[in-house]
Amino acid sequence: MSICVPMIFLDSYTAETILQSLKRGENEIEISIDLGLSESIIRLAEYKWDISKLRKIVEDPDTVYFINEEGVFKAAIRGKSFYKLMPAGKNKAPALLIDGVLMHRIKDIDPMKDARMKAKLCARKGSEMLEICTGLGYSTIACLDNAVSTITTIERDSDVIELARINPWSQRLFEDERVEMIIGDASEKIKMFSNKRFNGVLHDPPRFTLGPELYTEDFYEELYRVMKPKGVLYHYVGSPGSRYKKKDLPKGIMTRLRKVGFQRVQRKNDTLGVTGFKP
Ligand SMILES: C[S@@+](CC[C@H](N)C(=O)[O-])C[C@H]1O[C@@H](n2cnc3c(N)ncnc32)[C@H](O)[C@@H]1O
Repeated sequence: MSICVPMIFLDSYTAETILQSLKRGENEIEISIDLGLSESIIRLAEYKWDISKLRKIVEDPDTVYFINEEGVFKAAIRGKSFYKLMPAGKNKAPALLIDGVLMHRIKDIDPMKDARMKAKLCARKGSEMLEICTGLGYSTIACLDNAVSTITTIERDSDVIELARINPWSQRLFEDERVEMIIGDASEKIKMFSNKRFNGVLHDPPRFTLGPELYTEDFYEELYRVMKPKGVLYHYVGSPGSRYKKKDLPKGIMTRLRKVGFQRVQRKNDTLGVTGFKP
């Protein structure tokens, strides 16, 4: 496929739609080339389609592909780990996979809807937010949509940010002036903030075994320290009753949050998280 047009993103659904359209000999189709954010009219004859590559994409429903003037590529990066975008349903924001581990919820929900539900619990109009774990920026974007005044977001892995750069659903992360992005380990970077700096914190860590430093009492003390009085914390904790070394993880998290001073620490089952308030 040799083309000279803006990037086209394909998942198995859009690849199948193009294949069918080519089979019917159509000249143009209306289709989304940005994973469902918008619809465009594509003139099929302007592209040199490789039918066998399109078939491969149809047969690989777990991968997002993109086409540019240099060819067809997986939306993936091989670095310290293997990072890729995975379709989460037709016209839905894709999920992030790191070494095969899903970083977003896709069962009975989609990643952006989940992010909006999390932001609703902690990001209030006009607030200064801190987000731990930028990922693809969906929760950052959801906070922006809640009219926060600023959001500082920390991501350890620069390859994740590189993947976000090509993801159509992440673009506002790089465009909105209210966003300050910091690359580094949040358990270290948080130490640079002054006391009582943020009104709200959205803490969206990977599962415990992939980021234990983000679940410690010391880290929770830091979260508490950087929050203003009346500040609200949302903390993703995973499935109720999830266990590590026979310990009930959510229960242990809630105990430690209370220990460092958070009050009204409550489960929020819809988002598999907990909220807590700084008095
Ligand atoms: C569940 S994803 C975050 C999803 C994100 N909030 C979104 O809306 O797309 C978790 C992210 O945390 C990052 N991470 C893991 N350990 C970290 C650490 N110590 N500091 C900062 N980020 C970390 C991972 O690289 C991964 O991108």
